[in-house]
Amino acid sequence: MQIHHTIESLRAARASAGKAALVPTMGNLHEGHITLMRQAGERADCVIASIFVNRLQFGPREDFDSYPRTLAADCEKLEAAGVAHVFAPNETVMYPEPQSYHVDPAPAQISILEGEFRPGHFRGVATVVLKLLNIVQPDIALFGKKDYQQLMVLSNMVRQLGIPVEVLPGETVRAADGLALSSRNGYLSAEERSEAPRLHRQLARIADAVRGGDHDFLKLETDAMAELAAHGWQPDYIAVRRRADLQPPIHCSDPLVVLGAAKLGRTRLIDNLEV
Ligand code: PAJ
Repeated sequence: MQIHHTIESLRAARASAGKAALVPTMGNLHEGHITLMRQAGERADCVIASIFVNRLQFGPREDFDSYPRTLAADCEKLEAAGVAHVFAPNETVMYPEPQSYHVDPAPAQISILEGEFRPGHFRGVATVVLKLLNIVQPDIALFGKKDYQQLMVLSNMVRQLGIPVEVLPGETVRAADGLALSSRNGYLSAEERSEAPRLHRQLARIADAVRGGDHDFLKLETDAMAELAAHGWQPDYIAVRRRADLQPPIHCSDPLVVLGAAKLGRTRLIDNLEV
């Protein structure tokens, strides 16, 4: 496995890589990331992982400085997963001058859910992912459903801007107790870690109710938020939405997803389940 810290080195390797799959990450890799790498390996001759903690997508009061940076351990996991190339640029490589051109995702998509609570987040994500796609020029790129809205924003960006890459989704990988794996789970105390699966349980309860024919979404959402709050969480949102555009459902036949975000202590967790 080769580790590239410059665009030139990565591009030289890419030239002889055949059909290439890119899996962008911010590092601190867990089984969710590694599953995406394996899925990528089944679809391409060569898997390229990127590791870059992207300042542009963090708000001023978010965890950019404390975000875990574990390059050596990450590279061991990537090598074991059969990844051929790691692109691990520093900030000077990715942003040699202040970034003044950005991708602005559709307002309808960034004014809701994560976008409402993290202004500027998806603009930062879309901008860095466009840049990574331009640098690597992969045939396919994989993103997890764990970040459902991110997957949607990026799929729409690729389609609307005619970027020549196929976007593939990966299923959310969970711990045995249901908690979605996340680099941010490492911030949880032991006590918080045992409380954390409640978010998934509430989403699962809503998904079951909706499958069972309960369409009082507002009550389901409000009850779940109250349940979380009663156990010390600060919920941002719990929402039943259409899978297609994450807007509130209109027709009974709309395929749905239930999404949630809540803070447990200082850690903000997000999760979702397709209904
Ligand atoms: P990061 O949080 O490191 O996630 C990298 C990829 O792994 C994303 O596509 C994310 O959805 C996926 N992922 C995370 N947890 C997962 C889980 N439990 N199961 C399956 N997939 C999971 O998402 C980002 O980085 C950044 O926003 C990025 C796209 C790299 C742009 O900076």
